[in-house]
Amino acid sequence: MVDLILKKRAGGELSDAEIGFMIRGFVDGTVPDYQMAAFLMAVYFQGMTFREMADLTAAIVASGETIDLKAIPGIKVDKHSTGGVGDKTTLVLAPLVAACGVPVAKMSGRGLGHTGGTIDKLESIPGFRTDLGLAEVAGQVREIGLAVGAQTGDLTPADRLLYALRDVTATVDSIPLIASSVMSKKIASGADAVVLDVKAGTGAFMQKTEDALELARAMVQIGRQHGRRTVALVTAMDEPLGRAVGNALEVHEALAVLAGEDPPPDLVELCLVLAAHMVFLAGRAGSLDEAGALAQGALASGAAREKMRAWVRAQGGDPAVVDDPELLAKAPERTAVRAETGGWVQRIDARAVGQAALALGAGRTKKGEPVDPAVGVVLHHKVGSWVEPGAALATVHGAGRGEAEAAALVREAYVLAAEKTAPGPLVHAVVG
Ligand code: URA
Repeated sequence: MVDLILKKRAGGELSDAEIGFMIRGFVDGTVPDYQMAAFLMAVYFQGMTFREMADLTAAIVASGETIDLKAIPGIKVDKHSTGGVGDKTTLVLAPLVAACGVPVAKMSGRGLGHTGGTIDKLESIPGFRTDLGLAEVAGQVREIGLAVGAQTGDLTPADRLLYALRDVTATVDSIPLIASSVMSKKIASGADAVVLDVKAGTGAFMQKTEDALELARAMVQIGRQHGRRTVALVTAMDEPLGRAVGNALEVHEALAVLAGEDPPPDLVELCLVLAAHMVFLAGRAGSLDEAGALAQGALASGAAREKMRAWVRAQGGDPAVVDDPELLAKAPERTAVRAETGGWVQRIDARAVGQAALALGAGRTKKGEPVDPAVGVVLHHKVGSWVEPGAALATVHGAGRGEAEAAALVREAYVLAAEKTAPGPLVHAVVG
């Protein structure tokens, strides 16, 4: 292990055998934390070649179980977001692409820190179960075309151990390490093709578009080397996506998209772009444009909404929620955050809004903490919108915890200006 640390420290390229030796040793305890920590720091400074990243991904996949989705007919396409604020796209995409005939068998995660997780959002639907066994996932996908469950089994244990060590050694924000961590989970989950939504901006892991682009390229290369068709979109995460941040509030907004009832344009645009790539990769359309038209049709016809009803019912939830989102949990207290002066909204710091939701109890700072499904923030103005003095910028939905802090964070998140700012492009780049 000392030789391998030295080799990487000097900028050398490790072989497949050397990477495999190191990861196996780390998981079985023969490579101690202090040596792995030194290696991770060497990677942080020296980077890795695409070949090394693919081999590291393979070694992480080999450390645990893998899910075999071959029993489910068709090309299974997974979608992964690197994490953002107000990102409820999976809640729309899963029924939307399933309505286009693409089988969706997805393992999703819970939220951590200022970003939310799909599983927490789904669990805010009364009765909705996410602890699906593999056989149940396969059966449900055969029956209705989609299932989304919380990650079960012992998938990628090496990633869990590596992530915990990276967290305490300032080596989380290393592109080769993030890319192999994310892709190992996608590959172990059994998808044939992967669409990645790599977020760039204040609310994302990668604040700079160039870094997000580099991460996107690394993940696409890893996917390719593992025989998975992979496409990555680099998308904006400077202001929250849509208007709602918080679990039940985000489900409410996703249902509004499926119903076509005053949905936020940025959320609709992103869902349709991602859906088009998923439908195309799954081979359901001859071109990206055709795939986009198919997705648009499934949304407009109500087929995606019908699929949502079937999905909620299949996983034990109350399907009446789809037609009456008022049945979702509601926070007892509403506080309007008002503009002190008038102006055009120039910026809304997504990270600060995410932190406000966290302060209210919508998220967790440590793994395993419960979340409050009802609390969160709803924005009434997005970038490019005119605000009258004293108008409500946003509403804080609270339950007796963190309201003052959340309101202050939301107020600070808004930057108003005398000049109108047009919202920037949502999709910065497509890689793959
Ligand atoms: N998400 C992951 O799954 N892994 C990382 O390393 C960073 C973000």
